[in-house]
Amino acid sequence: MSDQTGSIESHHLPKGATAETYAPSPEFREQANVTDPSVYWKAAQDPEGYWAEQAQNLQWTKPFSEVLDWTNPPFAKWFQDGELNVASNCLDRHVAAGNGDRVALHFEGEPGDTRTLTYAELTHEVKRAANMLTSLGVAEGDRVAIYMPMIPETVIAMLAVARLGAAHSVVFGGFSAESLRARIDDAEARLVITADGGWRKGRVSALKPTVDDALALNGGGSTVSRVLVVERAGNDVAFDEDRDLWWHREITAFDGEHEAQGFPAENPLFILYTSGTTGKPKGILHTSGGYLTQVSTTHRDVFDLKPDTDVYWCTADIGWITGHSYVVYGPLANGATQVIYEGTPETPDWGRWWSIIQKYGVTIFYTAPTAIRACMKVGRQVPEQYDLSSIRVLGSVGEPINPEAWRWYREVIGAGTAPIVDTWWQTETGAIMISPLPGLTPLKPGSAQVPQPGISVTVVGEDGAPVENGQGGLLVVQRPWPSMVRTIWGDDQRFIDTYWAKFGDRYFAGDGARLDEDGDVWLLGRVDDVMNVSGHRLSTAEIESALVEHHAVAESAVVGADDETTGQAVVAFVILKSQQSILSLDDAEPELKKHVAAQIGAIARPRQIFIVSELPKTRSGKIMRRLLKDAAEGREVGDTTTLADTSVMQTISDRVRSER
Ligand code: PRX
Repeated sequence: MSDQTGSIESHHLPKGATAETYAPSPEFREQANVTDPSVYWKAAQDPEGYWAEQAQNLQWTKPFSEVLDWTNPPFAKWFQDGELNVASNCLDRHVAAGNGDRVALHFEGEPGDTRTLTYAELTHEVKRAANMLTSLGVAEGDRVAIYMPMIPETVIAMLAVARLGAAHSVVFGGFSAESLRARIDDAEARLVITADGGWRKGRVSALKPTVDDALALNGGGSTVSRVLVVERAGNDVAFDEDRDLWWHREITAFDGEHEAQGFPAENPLFILYTSGTTGKPKGILHTSGGYLTQVSTTHRDVFDLKPDTDVYWCTADIGWITGHSYVVYGPLANGATQVIYEGTPETPDWGRWWSIIQKYGVTIFYTAPTAIRACMKVGRQVPEQYDLSSIRVLGSVGEPINPEAWRWYREVIGAGTAPIVDTWWQTETGAIMISPLPGLTPLKPGSAQVPQPGISVTVVGEDGAPVENGQGGLLVVQRPWPSMVRTIWGDDQRFIDTYWAKFGDRYFAGDGARLDEDGDVWLLGRVDDVMNVSGHRLSTAEIESALVEHHAVAESAVVGADDETTGQAVVAFVILKSQQSILSLDDAEPELKKHVAAQIGAIARPRQIFIVSELPKTRSGKIMRRLLKDAAEGREVGDTTTLADTSVMQTISDRVRSER
């Protein structure tokens, strides 16, 4: 266990939590998809039966006869003798069912350009793209890296890759050349799909130049033979005639005829990298049939989706798991109409999101607590200028939502009536695991509350024994679930060590949690060296190793400190090399912040960097990050008796205090 927070020491509910509950209104309950509470115990009696039934909502080219193979834990196989095509489940079957004219995507570009694609049009574009990728040699079993802004071609590219039975590895557009390259190498991608750039905060944010830089690293040799470039922002880009191709030029040669082939349910669908407790990101592998079953089921039931009438909008970037599961695969498998928006909520002003809701009549809105808190700060007078009366369900994801933000969200965005589904899950779980069902669950602000039907979650002590209601401990998933991570790409041992070594065949999520008197789950944050900044996972080790790569840095320690808006923020403590003459103390902080952003990406940029002369260490040389966290959060520093030099923390605390 980490020395940053240790196991969860306080089992208290969040500030502002009360015993209040908000029962579903009779009007909501009447129309809800799930209203019979027996769904929980029925699914608990026969989870495999429950999931097999859900899987029947997909179109299988070859039916499965076996639901789950768990003979070789922790390597699960779901529906393994079944075959399906994930993309045609998201596209062709809706067209075949007569819903080709339904809007799939309302795209809103940041500069105000728009584009609407019906299911028939999206299907047509994906078929053309699949033909284009085939001509570039992409086939079953290959990996394709995708480094794109939030535009329709990103969805088209992912589905085209999936349609061919290949796997995509989407890398968030905010990651640096180094991070992109590490992901390309680890997955051995043969093709990169990118764009010239995208629009962010009123400016063009270039992407293709970062791909060029990434591929030039390590002497230039890589597994990538082609780079396909979508024209989006019109920025100048260099072109390597032997390697680079414009999407819009290539695609003209291909028509929209493409027969989708079925692939085995366990065929890899994608790899998505996420931060772990070491410096090296983990390639989380997801496969096809089980993943699509759980994302579509949860998307339908948790959001109470009515594909004929709802307009759904999830604000997550496609580069994260929320974008994969609840922008691309869940909604499209369900034939939903959705909004995708390229830019940031404050461009051109803080009314942007609300104007989009008003414009498209968004009925289901899914975002992160950090965004809600940012909007709260700006003030309710902004959303109040817009007609948000179409909203009927609100969702939250990425970190615990503090009760104050919950109430604001419900009152100001949800007219005081919309149910809020606080959804707990992870890159590794692939789909929502714990969440209220809006037609059934009396809501408790700040709690994700109930495991989904067919999902078995509990809270255990360090010894693995379940805790009583009213107590806290570590969150575990007790049975395999369809959308679970299958392995860490190329590293089965790390998969076992990270998630399974601690509690045998139960999955250790890395989160602390508490059960309240009703047995509802309250998430308490990570118990390892993973930080959660604006709902994004960052590894302390990864940022530390980026810092020490700077030639002026001797040593560093990074902690996640509480932050009013972003949940946690990165705070670094750095010792400079004594002989270095490059950095003055004044220059060090801005220079090192820039360095981290360049190494990993802007999301990892520390909020503060303290230059110190020593770090608090135990006699055996271990850095006591827990004490640094106390100092960074302005708390009385905890027990320092195990430190080799107890005065170190005093100096550091004084230093931090002087800057507050
Ligand atoms: O700590 C939990 C937190 O986010 C982590 C997963 O991060 P990631 O894989 O990036 O996926 C984020 C989007 C699914 C979890 O280990 N987390 C996520 N949702 C919640 C949450 N913490 C509390 N409440 C949530 N609803």
